Amino acid sequence: MVRTGFLAVAFSALVVATLAAQDARARGEKLFTDQKCTLCHSIGDKGNKKGPMDEVGRKLSADEIRHWIVDAKAMTEKTKATRTPVMKQLKLKQGDVDALVAYLQSLMGQ
Ligand code: HEC
Repeated sequence: MVRTGFLAVAFSALVVATLAAQDARARGEKLFTDQKCTLCHSIGDKGNKKGPMDEVGRKLSADEIRHWIVDAKAMTEKTKATRTPVMKQLKLKQGDVDALVAYLQSLMGQ
């Protein structure tokens, strides 16, 4: 019985974690449009095709994606990105940054 109880708790925790991750991704998807990332980036057929992000989760680590969002200037210098207009320093809430990272990290192309 103790064992079954433990499994039930572990399973519930897993379900909650999975739902939380899905929720973050859904919020990130919405933020991507709301925060006008689509002015310079595209996902699928939405947004600016000069900056496709369909496989960004394969290309960059979560840390790198986060770094772009919180310090675009440093990343532009670091990667010597030449595309203009350059990505601006964004002011986002921590939770919004987390959601965007969760969403972008999940994009692995088809
Ligand atoms: C004014 C245009 C502009 C806007 C708005 C913008 N970006 Fe960018 N972003 C860029 C440019 C330019 C780069 C440099 C890399 C490139 O050439 O695409 C870049 C790079 C990135 C990268 C690294 C991509 C890669 O393939 O290496 C990520 C991740 C990113 N942006 C996320 C975002 C998110 C999330 C938003 C919205 C919150 C956003 N950007 C809004 C212009 C923009």
